[in-house]
Amino acid sequence: MKENEYKEYNILTKRLLAEGYTADRHPDYVRVDVSAWEKKTLDNFYGGFTYERWWIYEQTFKTPCGLQCKGLQCHSNMSYMGIEWTFENDMATIHCPYEKKECTLKHEYLQDHGVLRYDCEVHMTDEEYCDFTEKLFLEFDRVLNLGGVVLYNLSYGNNNRDGMYKAVNTIITKTPFTIADVICWKKKTALPNNCSPNKLTRIWETVFVFCKKTDVDIFYCNKPVVSKRKTGQKSYGNIFNYIEAKNNDGSCPYNKATYSSDLCKQLLNIYCPKDGVVYDPFMGSGTTAVACKELGITYIGSELSENQCKWAENRINNMT
Ligand SMILES: C[S@@+](CC[C@H](N)C(=O)[O-])C[C@H]1O[C@@H](n2cnc3c(N)ncnc32)[C@H](O)[C@@H]1O
Repeated sequence: MKENEYKEYNILTKRLLAEGYTADRHPDYVRVDVSAWEKKTLDNFYGGFTYERWWIYEQTFKTPCGLQCKGLQCHSNMSYMGIEWTFENDMATIHCPYEKKECTLKHEYLQDHGVLRYDCEVHMTDEEYCDFTEKLFLEFDRVLNLGGVVLYNLSYGNNNRDGMYKAVNTIITKTPFTIADVICWKKKTALPNNCSPNKLTRIWETVFVFCKKTDVDIFYCNKPVVSKRKTGQKSYGNIFNYIEAKNNDGSCPYNKATYSSDLCKQLLNIYCPKDGVVYDPFMGSGTTAVACKELGITYIGSELSENQCKWAENRINNMT
């Protein structure tokens, strides 16, 4: 496909092409966002040129809700309701500096979508996130099998270091769940990368293992029995709560926060019995399903974005 034939280029790319730039010759504040080993082409997942991070940080963007915000406060690359919310389309989404609960300036598509606000953090307050988490865990309580666990990966952001602890507190105080274990996930590389103010701190993330308070003594954990006393009492071997695993499985056009099947498999080997069923309510690009399929474990998934569902289905069907 020739560069100028591509129909869904982002606004930035259309502008640069009209000005005569190409994938090989372009301003230094943009890049062609493909893996190093692939041929440079503008027909990439993100619809052409993307801005360099350092440039984004130096800019201000008008957000969907009409606020003028620093690039540092913006998120990008979210696909929703047929709109690509990206810097390149002059449609940045933000973690609102005012953290307003209700806002009349919000884009019409961002109204009344609690879930969406969770996803992109537009106007999300810690209280809202905790409410969301509480509802989520009350639903988990309804569907979780006896002895099952909920694996919940939480981390903190530049703008909010407290939220994850408030969420954990909500879970243990307002739902029937408690902490069964805490896993330290050591990632291959620290992200966000070195232009982030917390550049040294995100090489690991937390995976909280929650079980029902009534299941503390019986929740499933694949601890090997290393010896058995005459009395029948068993001694167990260690299960290490430090897991080293890849950051993710690569990019998906609809979701930059894809997940690591490497991590999922290591977690499943500990917390899922062979005849268990895994449910991922936020399936995204299908990483949990990929891990389950590789391990021969039954899985169910749900996902809000139709595009991602199709992407995940395709990914799973094409597994060898
Ligand atoms: C961080 S991503 C998950 C990424 C996923 N682990 C993967 O492998 O790509 C969170 C996903 O949850 C989805 N989502 C948010 N709220 C949802 C809901 N209520 N029901 C289903 N999916 C939802 C979003 O569309 C997004 O794809």
